Amino acid sequence: MFSEAKFIDAVERAARVVSGQLQTPIDIDRPIERVKLELSNEQEMSVSNDTFGRKRRSTSIFPTPRGNVEVEEVFSLAEKNAEEDALKMCNNADARKQYIQRHGNRVLVTGQAGMGKSTLARDLVQKLLERKMLPATDLIFFVQCKDIDFSETLGLLDFLLRYCVADGEDFAPNEKENILLLIKRCRNIVFILDGLDEVNNQEFLSAIPKFHFTGKVPAIFLLRSLLNGNLLPQAKVLVTSRPRQAFELEPQDRPRTIVKILGLNPSAQVELGKQICGTDCPRVHKILRQDPDLDSACYVPVFCTILYAVLHRHTASHGRGALNTMTRVMMYLLNTYLRSAHMRLINMEELVKIAKFSREGFASRKYVFHQSDISDAGITGSAFQAFMYTYLGKFS
Ligand SMILES: Nc1ncnc2c1ncn2[C@@H]1O[C@H](COP(=O)(O)OP(=O)(O)OP(=O)(O)O)[C@@H](O)[C@H]1O
Ligand SMILES: [Mg+2]
Repeated sequence: MFSEAKFIDAVERAARVVSGQLQTPIDIDRPIERVKLELSNEQEMSVSNDTFGRKRRSTSIFPTPRGNVEVEEVFSLAEKNAEEDALKMCNNADARKQYIQRHGNRVLVTGQAGMGKSTLARDLVQKLLERKMLPATDLIFFVQCKDIDFSETLGLLDFLLRYCVADGEDFAPNEKENILLLIKRCRNIVFILDGLDEVNNQEFLSAIPKFHFTGKVPAIFLLRSLLNGNLLPQAKVLVTSRPRQAFELEPQDRPRTIVKILGLNPSAQVELGKQICGTDCPRVHKILRQDPDLDSACYVPVFCTILYAVLHRHTASHGRGALNTMTRVMMYLLNTYLRSAHMRLINMEELVKIAKFSREGFASRKYVFHQSDISDAGITGSAFQAFMYTYLGKFS
């Protein structure tokens, strides 16, 4: 097989794997079909990462999310925005063309934790693979930002081989040259960069010197140059981030078209509920509707999934006390988790240490921990890992 074809095949396989990962927050005994998320391109500067709790207290009736953009439209929206802006920002055709190429191909998707950013990113990969979107696409690169080792200096191709290609594919130096040429010439590349908020924001502070397409540079320069259109300006790039970190980006790094995930509308909530609960859905739905706290949490996909799954399971295990508040649902969930396979090898003493550690963190408003904090509290790596899966990388 020619090196280019082998590369395209390896990239496509990696993308297919990613698109098939459902990542539910709680075990569900069947694969869940993704339901429609409401998306909006209205540019209100919401920089808060608050989840539903605090928001709900500030609005007596939570509005039903109603979007104005479909996921398939996000790139044409970016192009339209760039065309309109180019008329104001440039006074000749060449400058306009460059402006549109740089800004018309880039989209930022924001949403609070659990709002469905990673799910939307995977859904996009699936739509691209199935040619339901941008059917001329030749290469789809999916990058999970939390996987990137920012201590590394590397070239674009090595970056792509490391993070976007199915494991086990090796390419000889002459093959790599052909692939680089392919990438440079290819007009139809899409990058999906998921979870930019997981990158330490210090990484965004330094100025990026001009570098050659084939040069070796710190990984963050590659990421930022893809984002701001200095690298592969012809490629389409969609990046996801929680809102606060997204708006902390320097304007030159931040895509101008911003699409906000508003959450699930009531019929999408029920559609998700039916998949989780089957014929038990009307009963669970009724419980949710009776409690404004539970009801208003369901627009956030992660809560909707957890609530339907927990309330459904609760009957299955013959109700001990009503699960009618968010705290009780969370306690039930924790209890289930403690009995799960993840926790089999962790002893009770360790759990008590983690509980104390978290409580002290909350009390002192400390939410980011160093390795030394964890070892000082006497918590072993395996116990900690069973609870925490978010990390900020080497320098945090
Ligand atoms: N469109 C959807 N259809 C069905 N379930 C969804 C959808 N979006 C999200 N979910 C459910 O909600 C969970 C959380 O979503 P996801 O991981 O995509 O959120 P996120 O915005 O990426 O969160 P974070 O900021 O923590 O990365 C998913 O694991 C999935 O179970
Ligand atoms: Mg995510």
